[in-house]
Amino acid sequence: MNNHDWMRRDLAVLWHPCTQMKDHEQFPVIPIRRGEGVWLEDFDGNRYLDAISSWWVNLFGHANARINAALKAQVDQLEHVILAGFSHEPVVRLSERLVAMTPPGLSHCFYADSGSAAIEVALKMSFHYWRNAGQRNKTRFINLSNSYHGETLGALAVGDVSLFKDTYQPLLLTPITVPSPARIRPRGRTTTRSHRARGTTSTSTGMATGSRTSPTASASRRRPAPTSSATRSSRGRRR
Ligand SMILES: Cc1ncc(COP(=O)(O)O)c(C=O)c1O
Repeated sequence: MNNHDWMRRDLAVLWHPCTQMKDHEQFPVIPIRRGEGVWLEDFDGNRYLDAISSWWVNLFGHANARINAALKAQVDQLEHVILAGFSHEPVVRLSERLVAMTPPGLSHCFYADSGSAAIEVALKMSFHYWRNAGQRNKTRFINLSNSYHGETLGALAVGDVSLFKDTYQPLLLTPITVPSPARIRPRGRTTTRSHRARGTTSTSTGMATGSRTSPTASASRRRPAPTSSATRSSRGRRR
């Protein structure tokens, strides 16, 4: 099975995140066979430098020996137990360490399974806090201009990237958007907007080609750049 075979099977059964699937009629999906450190390798032997750590998930590199050994040891002892009504050693130890390194007042951990889910939890918790305090009218949230918090409905609502949220606007709560301090910077300096890394530039795969150059990766470098409104507005209003 080579890249083309896997791509054909993939496109027959998958929709990819943050992706206009019609793009893949022209630009190939890159099937990855293995990863090691900063490198990924496809089924045709091309290598790619994973310069965004697979969307910030593999910060310590692919197939990290120490992390993999800990994962395997844990899964052999206890792979999962519900946290409602039950507890276990790793979650207590991790929570103790997190509480020790966070400022006074942040004394308990609550776990969610993704960044978006964590935002949903935070929105519900803060609403619930005020409700318990007798302030039932406190239902609105302030967000920062150009912020990004994820793709679930609550997270999308408190983000401010129109490219991602415009379509779903009728479903979203309306935050009060205030300017981000990140926009205030010394004259003459430019910054790269983080949103560009999230599929809004020509390097939307986030991969740079390795020593053996891949035709597929160079094809994605040629991909036209759908500029997000966040990027446009930051350029338009740059000081
Ligand atoms: C700042 C920020 N918050 C939330 C999220 C959403 O995280 P997840 O993709 O795990 O839902 C992201 C993801 O890119 C993020 O960058």
